[in-house]
Amino acid sequence: MNELQALLNDALLRTKHVENAAIIDIKQQKVCASTSGFNVPSDDALNLIYAFHQNLLQVRRGGLFFKEKRYKCLRADNHSIYLQNPDRGLIVVKTKTYILVATYRGDMYPSVCVEAVEKLADFFREEGKRQHPGGQREGCSSFDFARREEVGYHSTSQQLLVPKSDKRRSNKMLAAYFECPGGPENLYVKEVTKPHPGEGEVLVRVSASALNRADLLQRRGKYPPPKGASDILGLEAAGSVVGLGPGCKGRWKIGDAVMALLSGGGQAEYVTAPEGHLMPVPRGMTLVQAAAIPEAWLTAFQLLHFVGKVEKGERVLIHAGASGVGLAAIQLVRLAKAIPIVTAGTQEKLKVTANAGAAAGFNYKNEDFSEKVLAFTQGSGVDLILDCVGGSYWEKNLACLSTDGRWIVYGLLSGGEVHGDLFARLLSKRASIHTSLLRSRDKEYKERLVKAFTEEVLPHFSEGTSPHLQPIVDSVYSLHEIAEAHRVMEENKNIGKIIIKMPASS
Ligand SMILES: NC(=O)c1ccc[n+]([C@@H]2O[C@H](COP(=O)([O-])OP(=O)(O)OC[C@H]3O[C@@H](n4cnc5c(N)ncnc54)[C@H](OP(=O)(O)O)[C@@H]3O)[C@@H](O)[C@H]2O)c1
Repeated sequence: MNELQALLNDALLRTKHVENAAIIDIKQQKVCASTSGFNVPSDDALNLIYAFHQNLLQVRRGGLFFKEKRYKCLRADNHSIYLQNPDRGLIVVKTKTYILVATYRGDMYPSVCVEAVEKLADFFREEGKRQHPGGQREGCSSFDFARREEVGYHSTSQQLLVPKSDKRRSNKMLAAYFECPGGPENLYVKEVTKPHPGEGEVLVRVSASALNRADLLQRRGKYPPPKGASDILGLEAAGSVVGLGPGCKGRWKIGDAVMALLSGGGQAEYVTAPEGHLMPVPRGMTLVQAAAIPEAWLTAFQLLHFVGKVEKGERVLIHAGASGVGLAAIQLVRLAKAIPIVTAGTQEKLKVTANAGAAAGFNYKNEDFSEKVLAFTQGSGVDLILDCVGGSYWEKNLACLSTDGRWIVYGLLSGGEVHGDLFARLLSKRASIHTSLLRSRDKEYKERLVKAFTEEVLPHFSEGTSPHLQPIVDSVYSLHEIAEAHRVMEENKNIGKIIIKMPASS
């Protein structure tokens, strides 16, 4: 078995997601490795080589796999492209020496093959260098999708602009991106211009970011970034300071490990933020854990202290208790010496909320939480409700809210419509409704919030402190797996935060 065949078997077929694959030597114009029974006629191989050589993507439609098929491009970079239609997925990797083509089932997501493809691409590149020392431009250059109107498959958002050069320019970075609003499949990693820190801003090289419901809404076109904010996804990040804009007051220096509250832009290799929106990474904490803090914890802190004015001994009902915000809120309620009560949709989630400090938890799917809350509070109800569910909960919320209770709506997971005598019920309890959004708050408000959180809460995250606070991380995805991360959150599978890690090279 030749070396390429062994590599093909080891890297790609081992994933069990690839059906067929072949490696074509461009110069020799022949197939030099393939899966058994996968026949690439020499005409097709030539056609494919020609298509890549010319960088004319529409030619590929007449080539090996593109005939009468319309493919969506799911992701791409300098050397690889992943395409899919309902029946078939297609991966193509190109270097100066070789072209790899591989097919996988249409219902699979290609990221299952990414690692294997990267391994093959690395090998190709090394081999290419050996065969063409001194960077001689033999065979094909890298992909060039710049002439987008000529791309032969569906003219939709999924087409990618891919850099012409193999070397990333220093003013460029990778970022999670989408062009047309829609499902997770619209997401891809794009090379974009690196941001510059403006007046009073810090440039952060991002190690990790985290996912928020706002990212899902923004991807669907239902939550545009506030004016002036980056349109790249990502409301929080952790990393290190690599640049300071004019007028920075010396709070941060190059190399500091920081976490940032953002209005957008976190799911990229670099992001800028006002210096007052950064916090130091607590002692003993990794950057992955730190990325789980800013948005969820500042939201929970704001709801409890800036909006809800929680007091010692009060009972606080936290809906979606196992969400990123919910698990932060439970711990902050305990820190305020108040009593957290939660709802969640599974027993597993309730168990995690209990470990985080919830005094009681109810599965809203199979029990009436308002009855349970009333029983737990001996009929008096809760003083504060942190509600990200909205519409479907209004009656039950009012049933278990105490007289003079505060009900804070900060999300509408079940929708915003309310039918019934809400005002009469509210008035009868002298209860109040508050609503709150963090992202759209002004810079000064966020600075005040970050400052208060840094002083009052952050020390409790450091090693060896008591009471000790802990960000709960559900899972970690690479930037290239951004679409899968969105799916997990959309299906309500996560318990705590989903982290997005930037490529190691960054
Ligand atoms: N206003 C703000 O400033 C602000 C800031 C940040 C976040 N938020 C909001 O806070 C909420 C939590 O965010 P997150 O990122 O922490 O979320 P998350 O980790 O994705 O968790 C959300 C959880 O909510 C529950 N849920 C979903 N749909 C539901 C429904 N129709 N009825 C009842 N429960 C439902 C699910 O858990 P179960 O399995 O338990 O149902 C789901 O896992 C979101 O609504 C988000 O928009 C608001």
